[in-house]
Amino acid sequence: MSAIILKGQTVYAPSSQKLTVRPDAHLVAEDGKVTGVYDALPGIYSCAPVVDYGDRLILPGFNDLHVHAPQFPNRGMGMDKELLPWLNAYTFPQEAKFEDVAYARRVYRRFVRELWRVGTTRAAVFATIHTPSAGILAEQMERAGLGGYVGKVNMDRNSPPALTELTDASLANTIRFIEGLENRTRRVRPILTPRFVPSCTEALLRGLGRLAEEHGLPVQSHLSENEEEIAWVRELHPQCRDYASVYDAFGLFGQTPTVMAHCIHVTDDEIALMKRRGVYAAHCPTSNLNLSSGIAPMRRFLDEGLNVGLGSDVAGGHTLSMMDVMASAVQSSKVRWKYVDGKAPLTTAEVFYLATKGSGAFFGQVGSFESGYAMDCLVVDDSRLGDEPRSIEERLERFIYLGDNREIVARYVDGALLPDPEETE
Ligand code: GUN
Ligand code: FE
Repeated sequence: MSAIILKGQTVYAPSSQKLTVRPDAHLVAEDGKVTGVYDALPGIYSCAPVVDYGDRLILPGFNDLHVHAPQFPNRGMGMDKELLPWLNAYTFPQEAKFEDVAYARRVYRRFVRELWRVGTTRAAVFATIHTPSAGILAEQMERAGLGGYVGKVNMDRNSPPALTELTDASLANTIRFIEGLENRTRRVRPILTPRFVPSCTEALLRGLGRLAEEHGLPVQSHLSENEEEIAWVRELHPQCRDYASVYDAFGLFGQTPTVMAHCIHVTDDEIALMKRRGVYAAHCPTSNLNLSSGIAPMRRFLDEGLNVGLGSDVAGGHTLSMMDVMASAVQSSKVRWKYVDGKAPLTTAEVFYLATKGSGAFFGQVGSFESGYAMDCLVVDDSRLGDEPRSIEERLERFIYLGDNREIVARYVDGALLPDPEETE
């Protein structure tokens, strides 16, 4: 048995309605899994070393449920455009560069280090269509000790020539990508990644649906982000009831674990189908504001018990920091409350849940300190943010609004302390 014991001001959210605060508690894990949070350390651990973090906060690591690694160099650019012009002007030309594996290695190294810096311990990541580059990204995340999913993106229509695959090659390369990771990565697994309906033919979607079923592979894509996009999907698939039904017709909507980014303009039928199939919504508020996409009905999703988490959606989102994404989720929900539907805005405790256990559930037992959960955590020294006595709840809220990487003094995944990737490269 290899036990690890961290002592500090422990806080986690077992549900969207519950914040559990345990001052001066011992967080105990064995073989990378949490066994309990104790005020007094049980006798069986009396000989095990305790890492005493004193007055520092100990939180679950942040989980980013939707992010595009190749768009990392584009952060903060093209923010005056909406989705489709933004894709054409900024995103596609940037992604085309990843045919060059040396470029990919350089950019992905910076991306992985930034994930580490901002305390994101697991992520569901889009690469590009390029199989070798996507493999490099998965390996770099694995080497840094981070967890999650990486997808080689599939695109075979309505895309610039440099990003348009032949259907059969797209499917064959997806298999090659999955097989390539088989013995190379453990914590970072492959995920099927049709970019979105407009960039995938029916033949490609059908082939991916078959792969999902045959190999039990998870799926990530985009759903109902922008009104022009939705109208385009309707034009391309007039026989389908709605956007979600296109994915569903090909076995890509919850037949295996599925996460759909945005889900802003979803209909009642689409919400009902998401619920029935357990499809995750990755809410990406920074991106949705930057690209003027709208504000997702998060209160309704939570009330209806949908699976929901938060995503940075870099580079629609301008920052990888889940602290910023959490604050943006609260702020945008207040605008929706005031000007749209009068439904209660999200609370700080709720967005903390979404960035930890809400997103984490897509990766397994991740994002909480309940027994059996992966021992992923952050140690936060918030002394820079103020020196008057505050409750742990207030300190958590202040960290979410004001904190950044400077406050995060240690990160653990599966019970292992993660060194700075820059220093281990
Ligand atoms: N829809 C299709 N591709 C993309 C992308 O790269 N980013 C966002 N935000 N939406 C998309
Ligand atoms: Fe996206």
